[in-house]
Amino acid sequence: MNRPRAVVVSFVVVFTVFVGSFVLTVEGQSATEAPAAFDNQTNGFLTQAAFDAARATFEERDEIADGLGPVYNAQSCTECHQNPVTGAISQINELRAGHLDGNGNFVDAPGGSLINDRSINAQFQERVPGAENVRTFRTSLNTQGDGFVEAINSNTLVAIANSQPGQSGGQIAGQFIQVPVLEAPGNIRGGRFGWKNQHASLLSFSGDAYLNEIGITNRLVPAENTSMGRSVASIDTVPDPEDTTNDIDVFTDFMRSTKAVPRDTALAATSDAIAGSQLFDQVGCNICHVRSITTSTAGTVINGGAFTVPAALGNKIIHPFGDFLLHDIGTGDGIVQNGGQSTRNKVRTMPLWGARTRDRHMHDGESLTFTDSILRHAGEATGVANNFRSLSANQRNQIVVFLQSL
Ligand code: HEC
Ligand code: HEC
Repeated sequence: MNRPRAVVVSFVVVFTVFVGSFVLTVEGQSATEAPAAFDNQTNGFLTQAAFDAARATFEERDEIADGLGPVYNAQSCTECHQNPVTGAISQINELRAGHLDGNGNFVDAPGGSLINDRSINAQFQERVPGAENVRTFRTSLNTQGDGFVEAINSNTLVAIANSQPGQSGGQIAGQFIQVPVLEAPGNIRGGRFGWKNQHASLLSFSGDAYLNEIGITNRLVPAENTSMGRSVASIDTVPDPEDTTNDIDVFTDFMRSTKAVPRDTALAATSDAIAGSQLFDQVGCNICHVRSITTSTAGTVINGGAFTVPAALGNKIIHPFGDFLLHDIGTGDGIVQNGGQSTRNKVRTMPLWGARTRDRHMHDGESLTFTDSILRHAGEATGVANNFRSLSANQRNQIVVFLQSL
């Protein structure tokens, strides 16, 4: 009785492998450009009507009755992800703080390194204590096109890291970290979202942001934040989890449906931008600011089994101008999140798609011009930054024009 059963099982396995590689070959030949535009239109993951509804949820303002706070940063996702379309970027920054212990290890400020900027009750306002002397601002990041970023195979990120010269003794060596997938407890995946690559999935980030930005507890992050370690229970009237309608899934669907960030095609076609684009590669900017990445094939199971890459996001070529790896370029913010102490002074390469929509650059927003941003690159980027310095003034300007086209 057992024998025939085993035969059937192995037949099924062989058949599946065959189909799997067949699909891979066909789609491998036909990777296509991801749709890119600032047009509030779906990339095809959701219908347009569902996209419009999800966008409205992403734009919804939460009030105290909905569970806002008690400590929080803003009332809606769109408050910080809005320019020039919902989901993109903003000038708003956030505050993190902590200190070093006797062994030089980073320790969070009481209640966590995020210092919330607002509270529904003035008595619970968070402020940085004097002893928490490692401090940084972090600017808001773009989420547009992040469904494609989520669909990148972790092995692709490892391969990019391995291709960087520092892994064989040179200066540039991106660090790949694996982080917990909140919706698939016990599973980890290659981090790619946030300044510290602290998340791998958009649903994990949504759960984290709903609590940490807006103060709405949810099924992934069910406990309220404290005010610098002090319980806020006395002013928190809404039972946890406060996200009773699973908005976190809707935020995720919205982000997964956004198109990639488009180029300024008119500017990109000018002779200065074309020359700048070539110089960008020649001096080595593209070692970290990677121009093109292809997402996993449709049908690939990711996020610890919680998500299957759909046709709209699979086998798509994107141009993020980033490697989604951590580097020490001398700007390190001193904070540790999911990557351990070795990542304290590292930040993710800022993806340069959409750079033209930002007027305050780098993680802290303290560089106001592209040139200032580039000249701040040190550490792993010292050699490349020196290559930039040795260009003629005209050539440096051509790189800036190229950046303005991104
Ligand atoms: C107060 C401003 C603010 C609000 C409100 C806010 N965000 Fe963000 N968002 C940020 C900042 C700042 C970052 C960078 C965080 C970091 O790494 O320190 C970020 C990063 C992200 C990222 C990572 C993007 C990437 O490519 O790395 C996602 C995804 C995201 N936010 C989703 C959301 C969602 C969903 C909401 C609503 C629940 C939300 N955010 C609300 C400021 C905000
Ligand atoms: C070793 C990797 C590496 C190299 C090489 C590199 N960058 Fe960067 N770049 C980064 C990282 C990491 C950040 C984010 C740093 C921060 O915010 O503290 C960044 C940020 C930037 C920003 C700021 C974007 C914004 O809006 O905040 C610009 C502009 C930029 N890089 C341009 C360049 C150019 C041009 C070159 C080549 C001359 C270059 N980079 C070479 C890693 C690199």
